[in-house]
Amino acid sequence: MPIVGYYNGEFVTPDSGIVPLDERGHQFGDGVYEVIRCYNGRPFLLDWHLDRLWMSLQALRIVPPFTKDECASLIERLIAESREPESAIYLQVTRGSAVRNHLFPEPTVKANVSATVRPVTSQTSKAPGTLLMMADERWANAWIKTINLLPNILAKQTAHDMGADEALLVRDGAMIESASSNLWFVRDNQLITAPADRYILNGITRRFVMELANQLGIVVRESKLPVEELTKVDGIFITGTLTEVFPIQRVVTHPDLPYASLPAVKGSEPLAADKCQVAWEARDLSLVGRLQSAFADAIATFSR
Ligand SMILES: Cc1ncc(COP(=O)(O)O)c(C=O)c1O
Repeated sequence: MPIVGYYNGEFVTPDSGIVPLDERGHQFGDGVYEVIRCYNGRPFLLDWHLDRLWMSLQALRIVPPFTKDECASLIERLIAESREPESAIYLQVTRGSAVRNHLFPEPTVKANVSATVRPVTSQTSKAPGTLLMMADERWANAWIKTINLLPNILAKQTAHDMGADEALLVRDGAMIESASSNLWFVRDNQLITAPADRYILNGITRRFVMELANQLGIVVRESKLPVEELTKVDGIFITGTLTEVFPIQRVVTHPDLPYASLPAVKGSEPLAADKCQVAWEARDLSLVGRLQSAFADAIATFSR
């Protein structure tokens, strides 16, 4: 099926030039978003996504243009329109359209809602991946799911350019998150993940995996793991709505990407991928495998 698009009440094709030039999402990145995974035609953990969307809207003082029930109905309509059983719904809410001005527009300006629905496949069969360690260059409110993702995009592209799957972001000496997923460590059969403070996005999958770990009797510690403790780690995985539970085989570093400080500005000179060095190799991914199976079972039950 083609990708379904939606803008302020109308279904459109995603490439239709429907967003006005003075749209604040376009001008300033002034908006928030959610990504919801649909399994067998049903949105997974929808209530949690809606709660987080409302938290993000409130944090940016954007007045929701709909109630949670209306938003849930819109999502159902999007799924019906797409007829795609396995899909990702991207939903953006911006502060609206108004003549460009940093100040908020008049309260009469209504928030804009846009969305796309696209087919996706499960990540679970992919081979364990690689993380590239680098300094976290994001702002100090990463807990808000804003559409303003420039540092995340640059981090992920750099990781990709260096042959890695994702970035491992270091802030204040601790390994806290990835560019588009939450980061987990396995040590002594326990899970360690950064606390959901202002510096990370409190992932819906992170929360779900915490529940799974609890059911499996696996201890989860929410603490910030210093980079020096990487050598003591047995396993690593990342989680996200589309990433699901994804095991990591190795962590690499690059001499031109200091993770303890921001890298020197070097213009457009590309980094040499062959300078990457392996900083960590997986010792034991069996517990990650158990979580992956538990996650797959939960999805199978949900999809029935
Ligand atoms: C920076 C970041 N962290 C974590 C996540 C995972 O969050 P969730 O499980 O809600 O998809 C995402 C997802 O997009 C993200 O962008």
